[in-house]
Amino acid sequence: MRLAASLGACLALGAAWLRVVCAGSAMGDRLLVLVPTAEAAGGYSELLGSLAERGFDVSVRAASNSSVALHVDGRRQYDHAVLLAPAAKRLGAALTAHSFVRFVDDGGNLVVVGSSDMSDQSRKLAAQFGVVFEKHGSRVVDHSHHLVTDGTGDHAVVAASRLAAVPAVLSPQLLEAPGTVYFRGIGHRYDPSNPLLTPALTGAPTTYSDLSGDEVLSGRQLGLVSVFQTRRNARVAFSGSADLFSDAFMRTTQSRNRQLVHDITQWTFQEKAVLREVARRHYLAATGMQPEHYRVSNDMVYEIDLSVYYDDAWRPYEADDVQFEAIMLDPYIRTTLNRTRSSGPAATYRGDIRLPDRYGTFTFRVNYKRTGLANVDVKDTVAIWPLRHDEYPRFLSAAYPYYTGSFVMMVGFLALCAAWLWSAEPSKPVTQAKPATQVKPATQAKPATQAKPATQAKHTAKSKPKSS
Ligand SMILES: *[C@@H]1O[C@H](CO)[C@@H](O)[C@H](O)[C@H]1NC(C)=O
Ligand SMILES: *[C@@H]1O[C@H](CO)[C@@H](O)[C@H](O)[C@H]1NC(C)=O
Repeated sequence: MRLAASLGACLALGAAWLRVVCAGSAMGDRLLVLVPTAEAAGGYSELLGSLAERGFDVSVRAASNSSVALHVDGRRQYDHAVLLAPAAKRLGAALTAHSFVRFVDDGGNLVVVGSSDMSDQSRKLAAQFGVVFEKHGSRVVDHSHHLVTDGTGDHAVVAASRLAAVPAVLSPQLLEAPGTVYFRGIGHRYDPSNPLLTPALTGAPTTYSDLSGDEVLSGRQLGLVSVFQTRRNARVAFSGSADLFSDAFMRTTQSRNRQLVHDITQWTFQEKAVLREVARRHYLAATGMQPEHYRVSNDMVYEIDLSVYYDDAWRPYEADDVQFEAIMLDPYIRTTLNRTRSSGPAATYRGDIRLPDRYGTFTFRVNYKRTGLANVDVKDTVAIWPLRHDEYPRFLSAAYPYYTGSFVMMVGFLALCAAWLWSAEPSKPVTQAKPATQVKPATQAKPATQAKPATQAKHTAKSKPKSS
């Protein structure tokens, strides 16, 4: 019965809310909305209704209510918060800029809304995220693009249309539909090189912020709505206009406020573009097993499964830019993984990788950060060992010149020996043969000398004194 009722509510709301899908958040449904006074909440009935229909457990509280706290006993009380009371001078005792920063550090998602008369506390909070709102009392003005009702134009209600093409945050319905976003409030400065901060809506060339001082903030530098994602994937959205969220602006003809607010809140409250790693594996290509340690130049396989959350479910994340790195101080390998299959809620990315010919402690890392998407940064530390003495290949291709050298040397030596041993001596002239014939008489004479040993001994005995 409840399911049927909520389905019916979804369908009824879908008609009102331009192709809205009933989706829950990937992380939790406790939502705190801080409004200036209980009566003021009536001006945001479309927003509050939409949030309730999307499955959030919405608590609307006056900003000055001192019993509202984001943390109780160190535990986060809400998953999401909307600070829709820009001018409130006195927030509840437990609601300081510091407590909101702590809330975000702790994984909470936050929408911060400003206005021309916004409080120092909200400014201080925004500045923590690199969003610097303009001076107190300044307004965003556009003399060419503004709201015209009954022939009279209000130059402070800017008809903004410069939306950032960030598909993870803004839906195609918003980016492609005609119309403008009405904005009455204060602009902010942002640092375009800040990788965590993404301007979603900026000024047109004719839009500027009055009371800017020497350097007038205008055009693309003038932030109207920006979104921020921390490294731990908590999300914060900033809008310089509270009216942007109001029923009045949503109901203005040709207004895209409803869709923009829907997209921004959906993104901020983790109802879409939430990416996560489901599983990862690495193993030797030869055995299919993960070894205790790899050896240099091993062929291995790295696989990672990625899921993305949107429309109330985890689905395979399909992209062609998921990279793998093997790092030891510097990346030795950085390669794009191939998507191999999408089964169930995850898509698998695979790389067939030959490890570097270098031993040490490596980190296998997939560091996937894309604007608007939740960050995936996973690391595994692995050891790569050198080969054991008996694991080297018998012959190294690089050493072939040396092998050739030694074999040539050996062959040369043998050839020289052979040449020396078997070469016939050149035939000699006749005179050289005489000594050979003279030897014969000597050997023949031997028996004769042996016959007279006595005479020889006498002769040597006689000659001895002569020599000494
Ligand atoms: C203040 O907040 C508490 C809950 O945090 C709520 O019970 C109470 O009704 C609120 N008071 C007012 C005046 O809104
Ligand atoms: C991806 O697939 C192509 C074609 O099969 C292959 O050449 C390439 O090496 C693969 N990349 C990785 C990292 O495995």
